[in-house]
Amino acid sequence: MKNTHPKVIGLIQQKGGVGKTTLSLNLAGYFSHLGERVLVVDADPQGSSLAWSTARDGASPFMVIGKAVPNIHKDLPEMAADYDRVIIDGAPGVNGLIRSCLLASDFVLVPVQPSPFDIWACADAIEQVYEAMTFKDNLKAAFVINRKISNTVIGKKVFKAFSEQEFPVMESAIHQRVIYAECASIGKTVFDLSDAKSAQLEITRLAKEIVHQKERVKT
Ligand SMILES: Nc1ncnc2c1ncn2[C@@H]1O[C@H](COP(=O)(O)OP(=O)(O)OP(=O)(O)O)[C@@H](O)[C@H]1O
Ligand SMILES: [Mg+2]
Repeated sequence: MKNTHPKVIGLIQQKGGVGKTTLSLNLAGYFSHLGERVLVVDADPQGSSLAWSTARDGASPFMVIGKAVPNIHKDLPEMAADYDRVIIDGAPGVNGLIRSCLLASDFVLVPVQPSPFDIWACADAIEQVYEAMTFKDNLKAAFVINRKISNTVIGKKVFKAFSEQEFPVMESAIHQRVIYAECASIGKTVFDLSDAKSAQLEITRLAKEIVHQKERVKT
């Protein structure tokens, strides 16, 4: 088995529509593109990742299974045994399901969008992650900015606002790109397309940053 730490990456944020599913699937696309055996656990009762896999024409490059129950952290080690990498696509809302996803993860990515609403909502996300860290002290977590629009004042303000939080922010941000929605609608990731180089590059940068960062823990 390859050294693939962090093995379990959770995309978790109680706020809806921030990009948990989009980033889960594209990170899964990246790791499977590398030749890893990847499992996506769809922990959302809406089943968006599962719907994605059924929209696809042909076999998926990674396995997607639905598990929207609050004991994921207990069942995951057995479910994950045959995989190199596991991505958890978390559910929105505040409940035991989110806590279970946090406890199941080695690395938590909290997607946030460049909007004041996301800045105001992030205190709750931070609190949930810190609560999980009291049970799992090797848990690592960081914000990732999604739907960034380059060179906007709001974009810069938001980055500054998140950087001022007592919580790490990934250096790699994901931009607003229609290709993410387009490829999701046909059950694909940007790694299935030949004309999505910029999107592939930013997902690759994000994935590499996750894999290589070891020091981002609560101080
Ligand atoms: N970087 C992006 N560029 C363009 N569109 C995006 C991007 N990220 C997400 N979207 C779009 O935003 C919408 C919400 O994204 P997504 O479903 O990934 O969020 P979510 O956090 O999983 O939502 P939920 O909380 O409902 O599960 C989708 O229509 C998706 O295609
Ligand atoms: Mg989702």
